[in-house]
Amino acid sequence: MDGEHRASGNLQSRVVHESLILPVRIENLVYEIGKARIIDSLNLELSAGGCTAILGYNGAGKSVLLRLLHGLLTPSSGIIRWAGDFDPEFVRQRQSMVFQSPVLLRRSIEANIRYALTKRGFKGEHRAHRIETVLEQTNLSRIRHRQAMVLSGGERQRVAIARALAVEPEILFLDEPTASLDPAATIGIEDILVRARNEGRKLIMVTQSVGQAERLANDIVFMHHGQVTEHSLIEEFLATPKSPVAQAFIEGKLYK
Ligand SMILES: Nc1ncnc2c1ncn2[C@@H]1O[C@H](COP(=O)(O)OP(=O)(O)OP(=O)(O)O)[C@@H](O)[C@H]1O
Ligand SMILES: [Mg+2]
Repeated sequence: MDGEHRASGNLQSRVVHESLILPVRIENLVYEIGKARIIDSLNLELSAGGCTAILGYNGAGKSVLLRLLHGLLTPSSGIIRWAGDFDPEFVRQRQSMVFQSPVLLRRSIEANIRYALTKRGFKGEHRAHRIETVLEQTNLSRIRHRQAMVLSGGERQRVAIARALAVEPEILFLDEPTASLDPAATIGIEDILVRARNEGRKLIMVTQSVGQAERLANDIVFMHHGQVTEHSLIEEFLATPKSPVAQAFIEGKLYK
């Protein structure tokens, strides 16, 4: 992405969210399904703020790791240690997740966002204010009354992100949020994410795109066979990847 795209996000930079549940320390995390070890003694520490991109070939365990972090799956063994001494429900309430193919309710864009807020206990003026703010931030104000079922893929993804941001998460998990979108829609989503990051929210994003990681991420977690083979700053990762498999991934080559 060009410098202008980056700069436009940075201009809006301001930290407005305090960190309660980060950093997170993941220790010897294992997730097994039957005899298959999907996550294999994984260790990782993620700090507050910024964007962490999780990269790796198909089947590496990226989506499963996000689901474990978001509490949608329970580890077979090992520990995910969040900062602070909060109960799991509080930790989950500090997080939102955006899936590759979001499921929206059969109602308007605005009603989808309102529903997410109500479920998290937002009401009255605060809820109304959050709806206006995210509709504006995601450029959906003009079509707020449109039914979710008629939206294009890019619009659906913007609604999913609006819904996730509405509840003011400390952490936004994103699983390949632009995988099936055209370049214009992708830039639109990336602009929204840059703004969320600059507000102080932590983005933890799975992507297949090295270019997207370069545009958005501060640090890279590279996964292979259910393990983290490296966790580096983006510049380091691109200049001197620490494994042949990461090198091949950066070069867009097959790895055997
Ligand atoms: N519920 C399940 N039952 C059986 N196997 C599963 C299940 N969920 C995940 N797996 C397996 O775990 C491995 C990791 O899956 P995961 O979806 O995390 O990969 P990924 O890194 O996100 O890949 P992709 O880039 O293709 O999305 C895969 O081999 C997958 O087949
Ligand atoms: Mg996946």
